[in-house]
Amino acid sequence: MNIAIIGGGNVGGALGGSWARAGHRVFYGLREPLGEKARALVVAGGSGVSAHGVADAARAGDVVVLATPWNATVEAVAAAGDLRGKTVIDCTNPLKFTPGVGLELAFGFSDSGAETVARAVPGANVVKAFNTYGWENFANAKYPNAAGLRPVMFVAGDDAAAKTTVSQLATDIGFAPFDAGGLSAARELEPLALLWIRAAMSGARNPHFTWARLAR
Ligand SMILES: NC(=O)c1ccc[n+]([C@@H]2O[C@H](COP(=O)([O-])OP(=O)(O)OC[C@H]3O[C@@H](n4cnc5c(N)ncnc54)[C@H](OP(=O)(O)O)[C@@H]3O)[C@@H](O)[C@H]2O)c1
Repeated sequence: MNIAIIGGGNVGGALGGSWARAGHRVFYGLREPLGEKARALVVAGGSGVSAHGVADAARAGDVVVLATPWNATVEAVAAAGDLRGKTVIDCTNPLKFTPGVGLELAFGFSDSGAETVARAVPGANVVKAFNTYGWENFANAKYPNAAGLRPVMFVAGDDAAAKTTVSQLATDIGFAPFDAGGLSAARELEPLALLWIRAAMSGARNPHFTWARLAR
């Protein structure tokens, strides 16, 4: 699959590397596609990874992944151009830092980042995924002590075909997809990211863990 990734930071770099290793073609959409960071991404990703301007990458992608800071995300999708008919994976979390409180959601309850993105990309099929864990787990989703359990990847969206595509992309890099429901379920998945961040920062500060599903 041709995957455009807008943003080549922690999340974009980790996902792009993993998808390239799984045999996908990755087109990074960057503000400075000829810069040092772009070169490093391409070198790290190996063959199958290339760097472009945001609109060129988005045009090349069957799937467009948003891996930008929340505050830059609506601007980034505007720069991506017409995304109608494409599957758009929203990995972002609408977080803000409040002195005395710490990290918290900028908004929630009756809206979510993913629904905000969907309003900004009419005609695209937005799916919320890859937002509830740190990037370290997207770079390597293997847990040798998990007794065969695979890490869960929550997938929320209103278009069934787009969710199937995103679920396959999650499977390709080691996750067990979990259908979390329609796009409004992002209202639950975005605070779940905060829970993960708090857990990762506490005690021994270990980011190498995920949620898994035990069922019978
Ligand atoms: N960090 C995590 O472990 C993690 C896990 C799950 C979800 N998330 C969410 O994923 C998103 C990305 O996080 P991150 O840690 O990868 O951030 P990051 O390391 O700061 O990377 C952000 C990337 O977005 C690019 N960018 C910024 N503004 C842009 C714009 N207007 N147009 C296009 N690209 C732009 C930056 O490019 P420049 O280099 O040009 O500035 C950079 O490549 C955030 O919303 C975060 O909440 C993070």
